[in-house]
Amino acid sequence: MSGRIITVAQQKGGSGKTTLAVNLAVCLHARGHSVALVDTDPQGSMGRWFMERMSAIGEDEALDFSTSSAWGASYESEKLKKRFDYVIIDTPPKIDSDLRPALRVADLVVVPVATSHVDLWATEGVLDLARRDKAEVLVVLNRTRPNTRLSVEVAQKAAELGAQVADTQVSNRVVYAESLGLGLGAIERPKGPAVAEMTALTDEILARIG
Ligand SMILES: Nc1ncnc2c1ncn2[C@@H]1O[C@H](COP(=O)(O)OP(=O)(O)OP(=O)(O)O)[C@@H](O)[C@H]1O
Ligand SMILES: [Mg+2]
Repeated sequence: MSGRIITVAQQKGGSGKTTLAVNLAVCLHARGHSVALVDTDPQGSMGRWFMERMSAIGEDEALDFSTSSAWGASYESEKLKKRFDYVIIDTPPKIDSDLRPALRVADLVVVPVATSHVDLWATEGVLDLARRDKAEVLVVLNRTRPNTRLSVEVAQKAAELGAQVADTQVSNRVVYAESLGLGLGAIERPKGPAVAEMTALTDEILARIG
């Protein structure tokens, strides 16, 4: 068995890296896949989420968590992909050469962009680095307010940077912030529009990497 590796990266802080990483993990797990989370961010938000989850739900051998140094991310994830269907790497909000192992090893790099021009400007760095390492990238617009001119503009500008932009946009919803704090994914909260959003995003990602 050889799993797929997804790295979530973006130098802008608070763009939704950890949110997308854990929600993707929960969606993949709910579909019967095993998932290993790897946190290379010293802030440790993903680890906090995982600890909350352990106290809420208990241990689950099909959803594992470990930390890694940034430079050790490729070694760690290559090892994990022998045991898990998917390995999801969360990264810190900075772009430097330390990020390269996590980009190089990825089957797909997911780049969340909180929907604003300022956030988009910050995205060029990770796109350049990913291009150098020949990594496949998918930009995901996060915290959008649907049907606003801003989200249309930012999506267009992202495409002009030469990036693939996901058809699915992730709206600004309290359930994402709330479920993160509870160690859950948005699909595990009482049904709302976030379920369809995360399901569609997971479908799109799977269509790219199988
Ligand atoms: N779509 C969304 N709707 C509402 N809140 C969101 C959404 N996405 C992220 N958030 C909230 O924004 C904050 C930052 O998100 P998150 O921690 O995922 O970003 P990050 O890119 O991992 O940040 P950092 O760069 O510090 O690691 C969190 O409080 C999170 O709950
Ligand atoms: Mg984070």
